[in-house]
Amino acid sequence: MIKQNIEDALNQQVAREMHASNLYLAMSAYFSSISLRGCANWMRLQAKEEMDHALKLFDYILDRGGKAKVSIVDAPPSEWESPLAAFEAALHHEKLVTGWINELVDLAVAEKDHATSNMLQWFISEQVEEEATVSEIVDRLKLIG
Ligand code: FEO
Repeated sequence: MIKQNIEDALNQQVAREMHASNLYLAMSAYFSSISLRGCANWMRLQAKEEMDHALKLFDYILDRGGKAKVSIVDAPPSEWESPLAAFEAALHHEKLVTGWINELVDLAVAEKDHATSNMLQWFISEQVEEEATVSEIVDRLKLIG
């Protein structure tokens, strides 16, 4: 059985991943509105990935005999100043998520919850990949000007 504080923290992360999914879907709509179809498709795929992240945590909570929760998430913005501003916002968001994942690992270690710590290692690797990918896009857009 999962400890209550771990369950609560994981449920909070479920909501954050759902928020990220909504954020990237909103960015996808923004890119569509300015006829950047490639960027719109890319953001749509990210939105799906973020929902997968939420479900991964959701299923884990259930597998451990916990109570998985669906929460209300804040609506994301719908406009950005430029494509670069949108990708910079995405990078900023990924860095926030990395910080939250690290905090979750810290909590799991402090609570000697090895299963949760192990499950979260997947997210640690995923964040390295996501930050690198978005950072590369930001750099390219800056180069293009
Ligand atoms: Fe699930 Fe991109 O963080």
